[in-house]
Formats: sequence, C-alpha cells, structure tokens
Amino acid sequence: MKSNIQPAEGKLGILIPGLGAVATTMIAGVEAVKKGLSQPIGSLTQMGHIRLGKRTDNRYPKIKDFVPIADFKDIVFGGWDVYEDNVYEAAMKAKVLEPGLLNAIKSELEVVVPMKAAFDQNYAKNLTATNVKAGTRYELAQAVMQDIKDFKQKNNCSRIVLVWCGSTEIYYEASEIHQTLAAFEQALIDDDKRISPSMIYAYSALKLGIPFANGAPNLTVDIPAMIELAKLTETPIAGKDFKTGQTLMKTILAPGLAARSLGVKGWFSTNILGNRDGLVLDDPDNFKTKEVSKLGVLEDIFKPEENPELYGDLYHKIRIDYYPPHGDNKESWDNIDIFGWLGYKMQIKINFLCRDSILAAPIALDLALFSDLAKRAQMSGIQEWLSFYLKSPQTAPGLAPENDIFKQLMKLQNTLRHMMGEDLITHLGLDYYQDLVEAM
Ligand SMILES: NC(=O)c1ccc[n+]([C@@H]2O[C@H](COP(=O)([O-])OP(=O)(O)OC[C@H]3O[C@@H](n4cnc5c(N)ncnc54)[C@H](O)[C@@H]3O)[C@@H](O)[C@H]2O)c1
Repeated sequence: MKSNIQPAEGKLGILIPGLGAVATTMIAGVEAVKKGLSQPIGSLTQMGHIRLGKRTDNRYPKIKDFVPIADFKDIVFGGWDVYEDNVYEAAMKAKVLEPGLLNAIKSELEVVVPMKAAFDQNYAKNLTATNVKAGTRYELAQAVMQDIKDFKQKNNCSRIVLVWCGSTEIYYEASEIHQTLAAFEQALIDDDKRISPSMIYAYSALKLGIPFANGAPNLTVDIPAMIELAKLTETPIAGKDFKTGQTLMKTILAPGLAARSLGVKGWFSTNILGNRDGLVLDDPDNFKTKEVSKLGVLEDIFKPEENPELYGDLYHKIRIDYYPPHGDNKESWDNIDIFGWLGYKMQIKINFLCRDSILAAPIALDLALFSDLAKRAQMSGIQEWLSFYLKSPQTAPGLAPENDIFKQLMKLQNTLRHMMGEDLITHLGLDYYQDLVEAM
C-alpha cells in the first residue's frame, strides 16, 4: 500500500469552524513549537513512537518519521467564527495559555482572522453572534465552499482539511432528510432547519473532496447522507467529540477493571468548568448532546449484556455544571463503586484538575494531520482507526464502536503499519520467543 501514498508536498491548510479555546490553543501551540518555545506534548503524531517488526529488531521510530505527515512549517491556519476576534484576541480571552507565550507569537496569531460563520442561533442559544453570513442553507454552503477555494488559492495550499472545533450544537437525531444525499441536497435548497450549521461546513468540505473531522458530539458527518457523499468524493471523515478529561480517564481505567474481571456497580461523574464551552453546555438542549456522547463509553467497554454478574446493574450518571471561576481549568470528580472476590465492595475516587483545551489541542492537530494522510493514502469514508481520539467514535452502520483506548491505539498503529507495508503486530511473539529461550 505504501507506494500509493502521495507525498505531503506543498502547504496544508487546516481550516477550523469555531476559533475558540481548543482551536486557538492548538494554533498557538503549533506556532510556539515552530519558534522553538515549547514542545508538542500530548500529540501522538509529534511525540509518539511506533514499534516495527519483532521486539528483537529494536526499530522504534517516531511516528512523524515513519509516515509522511505534513511538517509544521507547511501548515497554514484559517477558520470561521461567529465572533470577529482574531486568533490572538480569542486566545487571550480564552485564558488557556499565558499572555507571555501568546505575545511571543502575536504576529503569527493576529493574521488568522475568522471568516463569517454559517450559523443558526437555535443551535447554540447562549452565543451572541456578530460575524455571520446571510442566506439560506444552500447559499451558506455555496459561500463556505467559496471561502475554502479562496483560502486555498490565497495561501497557495496544495491540500485542505477541516476540523470542527465549534460549539456543541443542541441535541438532534437524524431524520429523513439526513438519510440520503439527494434528500439532504433537497433539504439544503428548502432551507430545512433540521440541517445544522456544522452539517453545512461538513457538506461543503466533502463536496470538494476535503477531509472533515468533528471534535464536538453533534451528529454532523455521522449521518447516512454524509457517508454517501464521502464515498462519492473519496473523502475521509471522522467523529465525534474529542476524547479529553473525564472520558479519557474512563477509557483508560474501565478496560483495566474489565481486564481483571472486577465488577462495577456505579460510576458517578461530575464536572465543573467555566469556559465558553461550559456556557453553551449550560443550555439543557446542548448538554443533552454531550451527555449522549459521554454515556455510551462504559457500556461499550463493559458489555453488560455479556457480563451481567459484573456489570448488569451498573448505574452511570454524568453531570456538567457551568462554574465561571474555574475558566478552562475543568475539575472533575468520579466516584466508582466496584466489587471484587466474593462480591466485596471497594471504591475508587478520582479528582482530575485538568485543562480541557490543553488536552484537546493535540487531538485536533493529530486529527487534522492524520485525516490529510488518509486522503493521500486514498482512504475514504469513516476512519475508524481515528477512534483513539474520539469520545463517541463513528463506525460503519451496525458496527459497535471500540472505546477501549488500548485497543484503539493498537488499531491506529496497525493501520499506520499497514499503510507503510510493515508487518502488523499481534503481540503474540511466539514465532521468535522460543528461539530466544533456547539460545539462553
Ligand atoms: N475542550 C475540550 O476538552 C473538549 C473536549 C471534547 C469536545 N470539545 C468540543 O470542542 C468544541 C470546542 O470547544 P471549545 O472549548 O474550544 O469551545 P469554545 O466555546 O471556546 O469555542 C467554540 C467556538 O465555536 C464558535 N462557533 C459556534 N458555532 C459556530 C458556527 N456555526 N460557525 C463557526 N463558529 C462557531 C463559537 O463562537 C466559539 O468561539 C465544543 O463543541 C466542545 O464541546 C471540547
């Protein structure tokens, strides 16, 4: 398969609907790393290694030296937002990164000015939008496509990817207009309100053959019409919802409990956060979207129907409360009621003082870089190997998602090995283990 991957030549434009806390932290991070001011911690594409061949081969290159991903020097950022603030101003307001760091890269950040957004107030009621496009949904899609083409030409990019870092939209389910591309396109013309703003961006990108990854829990590309379009234009898609904070902890810890056949009776999770994301999630309709995305994780890992003695009575509760004094520094508490040998009860308490956007920024970056790689490797449709980064991974219809982070990593790494024509690693090792034992 290796010979089919197009090289990462020329500039890669990373276009982001939603230049808020996550997006500005990601952009500022890339600029800071480029200037030698910091390190891209948390980014698998930049810091991660991958084992190749047998353990005895001692081949352990960095991922970025193994697969042809875009170099930081070739990345150009752009995006849309419902506010006019440029990325420097938005990052200062988000208060994730220190002003000292932002001032050191001010000139690089100031030039990223948001284009007017495709927006519908009904999908994020707590925002007061001032930088929006006018028109029907069809006209908005045409305008977004024009924005993408103009950006590409102006910045002399050879490739573009889109990563949705916009606010979580209100909860909605797929309806008949989302089932086929023809129905969706008719609904665009009819300005049907069931087409959300994030779908307008996704449609525009896919129509142009541009990869689209979704960092929020909204359906967006997780509808049959988008899957059909992605196939038609041979475009990679991935979603939903960046896996950070509490859900990251859950998908690290729960596989460990399940691996040791320990029972879980209850898992109570509560969060407080005070950033704009928290403000949007303070609306019950928007919170519902997040809740649905977070709830599935434990069930998928524990599989209560197959393990009724261990997980049949699991009570899973999630709360998020808006608490401005904490800003982007989310605090979460988990109380986990577990039981072991002969049913004896134990408890685990987790108090995670995390920084939401510090965890999300490298994910947004990796999704952009890997989506671009997938496109150049002629991989299209749902990129399940990117589940590693996502809270509510999109899978082919009828396939249960894999939420165990260790299996997700194995899948991601094996996908990279497969792309590059390397042997897949099963960790069996028997083929050479015996030779080593006998040589001792
Ligand atoms: N921070 C995390 O750890 C994390 C984790 C998982 C998912 N997410 C999701 O990522 C998204 C971004 O999070 P954030 O903390 O940066 O939020 P944020 O509120 O700081 O940024 C979102 C930005 O999107 C803009 N926006 C809303 N609708 C838009 C539209 N239609 N077009 C263009 N811009 C639009 C808003 O004005 C805002 O500036 C949210 O959906 C959030 O739920 C974040």
